[in-house]
Amino acid sequence: MDINQFIKKSRSITGDLKNFRLEDAPDSPFDLFTTWYQYAYDYGVEEPHSMTLCTVDADGFPDSRVLILKKIDERGFYFASGSESVKGRQLDNNPKVALNFYWKELGKQIRVRGTAVAMDRETNIGDFLNCGQTKRAFALTHKQSQPANTLQEIDEKLHEKEQFLLKNPNAINDNWIVYRVEPFEIEFFQARMDYKHVRIKYSLHESIWEKVLLWP
Ligand SMILES: Cc1cc2nc3c(=O)[nH]c(=O)nc-3n(C[C@H](O)[C@H](O)[C@H](O)COP(=O)(O)O)c2cc1C
Repeated sequence: MDINQFIKKSRSITGDLKNFRLEDAPDSPFDLFTTWYQYAYDYGVEEPHSMTLCTVDADGFPDSRVLILKKIDERGFYFASGSESVKGRQLDNNPKVALNFYWKELGKQIRVRGTAVAMDRETNIGDFLNCGQTKRAFALTHKQSQPANTLQEIDEKLHEKEQFLLKNPNAINDNWIVYRVEPFEIEFFQARMDYKHVRIKYSLHESIWEKVLLWP
C-alpha cells in the first residue's frame, strides 16, 4: 500500500477533549497558558514544554524547529540556543517569531506571535552553566547547524570539549543565548469532535489584552 493510504487512514483529533468557552477565558493569556499547562502536565501530556519556533530567513522564507520552553512570566516565553545556529542568525536578522504548542492528548493548540529578545549576559551565562555537560560540550563546539563530514568527526569534537569541561567546569560560552518571546498575539485552540473547535485569540492593544472568539 502506498504511504498516502496510511496518511489518509491516520486519525486526527483523538484526544480527551474538554469544553472551553470565551466566558471561561481569563483577562490575561498568561493566566490561561498557566492553567492549560498545569492541566496538561497533570494529565500526563508528554513533553508539554516542547514547542515549535518559527523564524524567518534573510530571504523572507519561514523556518521552524522544535525547542524546549524554559519558563514563562508575564513578559513572555523563554528558550535557549546557540547564537551561531541557523535560528540564532535568523533571529539576529529578524526577531519576529511564532511559537506553536500542540498537546494532542487534549486536542489543544496554542499559537504565539511576537518578538524574540536576547537576555543579558548574566542570564545567558547562568543558564549555560545550568545545562548538562553534553549540552555544554556541544555548545562549546560552536558548530550547531553546520555541515559535518562524519559522525566520527562529531564524536571526536564532542570528546575534546567534554575533556575541556572536566578541566574547566565553569567555562562559559558567550554564544549561548536565552531568548524571551514577547508576544502581541496568543491564540488558544480547543478541538472538538464536532469540528466546532473553540478558538480564542488574545491581542495586545496599548498594554491591554483583548480577546475574541474566532470561527473554527
Ligand atoms: C524535543 C526537542 C527539543 C529540542 N530543544 C532544543 C532547545 O531547547 N534548544 C535548541 O537549540 N535546540 C533544541 N532542539 C533541536 C532543534 O530542533 C534544532 O534541531 C536545532 O536547534 C538546530 O536548529 P537550527 O538549525 O534552526 O538553528 C530540540 C529538538 C527536539 C526534537
